[in-house]
Amino acid sequence: MAEDRSYSPSREFVEHANVKGMEGYRALYKRALEQPAEFWGELADKELFWFEKWSKAFEWNPPFVKWFVGGKTNVSYNCIDRHLATHRKNKVAILWEGEPGDQRMITYQELYRLVARFANVLKSRGLKIGDRAVIYMPMIPELPVAMLACARLGIIHSVVFGGFSAEALKARIQDLEAQVVITADGGWRRGKEVKLKPAVDEALPECPTVRDVIVYRRTGSPLEMKAGRDLWWHELDETAAETCDAVPLDSEAPLYVLYTSGTTGKPKGIVHTTGGYLLQATMTMKWVFDLHDEDTYWCTADIGWVTGHSYIVYGPLSAGATTVMYEGAPDCPQPDRFWRLIEKYRVNILYTSPTAIRSFVRQGDQWPNAHDLSSLRLLGSVGEPINPAAWEWYHKTIGKERCPIVDTWWQTETGAIMISPIPGAVPAKPGSATLPLPGILPEVVDLNGKPVEPNCEGLLVIQRPWPSMLRTIWRDPQRYEDQYWRRIPGNYLTGDAARRDADGYLWVLGRVDDVMNISGHRLSTMELESALVRHPAVAEAAVVGKPHEITGQAMVCFVTLKEGKWDTEQLAQDLRLWVAHEIGSFAKPEQIRFSEALPKTRSGKIMRRLLREIVTSNTVVGDVTTLEDLSVVTRLSAQTDDE
Ligand code: WT7
Repeated sequence: MAEDRSYSPSREFVEHANVKGMEGYRALYKRALEQPAEFWGELADKELFWFEKWSKAFEWNPPFVKWFVGGKTNVSYNCIDRHLATHRKNKVAILWEGEPGDQRMITYQELYRLVARFANVLKSRGLKIGDRAVIYMPMIPELPVAMLACARLGIIHSVVFGGFSAEALKARIQDLEAQVVITADGGWRRGKEVKLKPAVDEALPECPTVRDVIVYRRTGSPLEMKAGRDLWWHELDETAAETCDAVPLDSEAPLYVLYTSGTTGKPKGIVHTTGGYLLQATMTMKWVFDLHDEDTYWCTADIGWVTGHSYIVYGPLSAGATTVMYEGAPDCPQPDRFWRLIEKYRVNILYTSPTAIRSFVRQGDQWPNAHDLSSLRLLGSVGEPINPAAWEWYHKTIGKERCPIVDTWWQTETGAIMISPIPGAVPAKPGSATLPLPGILPEVVDLNGKPVEPNCEGLLVIQRPWPSMLRTIWRDPQRYEDQYWRRIPGNYLTGDAARRDADGYLWVLGRVDDVMNISGHRLSTMELESALVRHPAVAEAAVVGKPHEITGQAMVCFVTLKEGKWDTEQLAQDLRLWVAHEIGSFAKPEQIRFSEALPKTRSGKIMRRLLREIVTSNTVVGDVTTLEDLSVVTRLSAQTDDE
């Protein structure tokens, strides 16, 4: 890593910035460190609307925290209603483009109308505070409309990414005991319809809690509507009233549950609440994205992931931004779609992933170079470590060496960005997420919780609670405690390894647990292995990540088969589709490798570390004395990669 290189923002950028220079950053950080209650309390008063004021900024009973205790507010009100009395009333809130090229520009006033109507629809179906809605939709404006309508009434939403399969959808509906599913016929991706409603039909027979399925018509393709269960959005919406008051909700009322992969076979329902979450989402828009009222801001994530929740919907709308939303693939109809959109809408701030950046590098500079990208003033990256070469390309070819880059480290659990340069203040070093944001206390520790020396690797932990922190795992507080707080008592365990350099800059190195990161999407090895062993031919499976040029990691599955005669070539193909069917289309294994046995410790634990070494280097080093069957390792490592 080219650690010696450091990039400071231009004088013009600093002059215009929300936080100016290192002194600006240091002053904020110091205040938050020394007086956290006052720091966050003042921001909560200034930046959010409260129906009833809170009495205490936070209450920390490790590992459980409450923020803005006793306060009453509403996320939907903060994202919409409060802007209507300002110059933002007719400002574009959501600037949307569908993959086929259709456009919608929804002002804050119009967003109010759409959300109020749909909230009235939900009310008319008998939904109330604390009920759960699963939202399974393409990237169309009705997705944030549904989220904001739920938030308006205190209905807890759980968005399931459209790339998840019927199986994954079913597991989430069941775990939440949802009363309603909000979906669409389908959406557009690479010129083809991605159907959603059939997956809902497949999931629902085993989901007895669901009373209603509300279906938005996007693609218009024919589908089956089940009488007594399925309802058309447009039919319900037609008669809905145009106003609907936001319900004053407790600051700690759950806003949403978002499932993410952990180290077991069962996804974790990460619970985010109201006041603290919204405050930190709002503040990071201003600090990290240096948001100004005149900006057109585009985060290219899918709303099915936390990035889309915090940085397409809640953060930008609360901050009164114009947030761009694009339905389809980056290479449709050609590899320059992103650059066309930036030129067309004069986008000022672009937030995307290292995987996307690396695939742009591969497609060639002619695609961005054919477009006027001069509107851009700030670039962001999220999801995985960005390699310095991709960083440099982003800086030169997209930013024309003019735009600061914010490499933002955070997680589904953290709710908001935690470690990132503040662009007008903190000089960037390619590959480093740099310094923690105000109020965030990261540390790099050894297995005993002792801080390690500069430049030494260790576990990344967070030492204090923060407003947008997850509150628990849905209906499993024990797992919440065990997973995040037990290993290093009193500290939040991120699951990432990191090191801090002599300047205090943090370098996040990747996961230390059995979680893979493919294209910035989190996948659990255990979850994938349980999917594989559900296949009738599979006896045992072990899944590991292998470094991949574009997607960061790629999935390699080691599989032992049950007795019988198998056509392994056909079976490898079947198993790849099987995993996609069990988890989702984005989770296709790159390789299936068959083996007679898997390397195990004496106690029977599969040695994934060893398999990782095999796929990474095709040789095995390190300690193998606890191995049951060494010959297995030899045979596996002798296999070549292209089978
Ligand atoms: C994991 C969280 C947060 C939104 C998207 C992913 C990795 C994320 C960075 C970064 C290095 C990063 C970490 C983290 N990660 N951003 N800037 N540098 N690593 O959310 O699915 O909850 O995954 O993504 O490993 O733990 P997620």
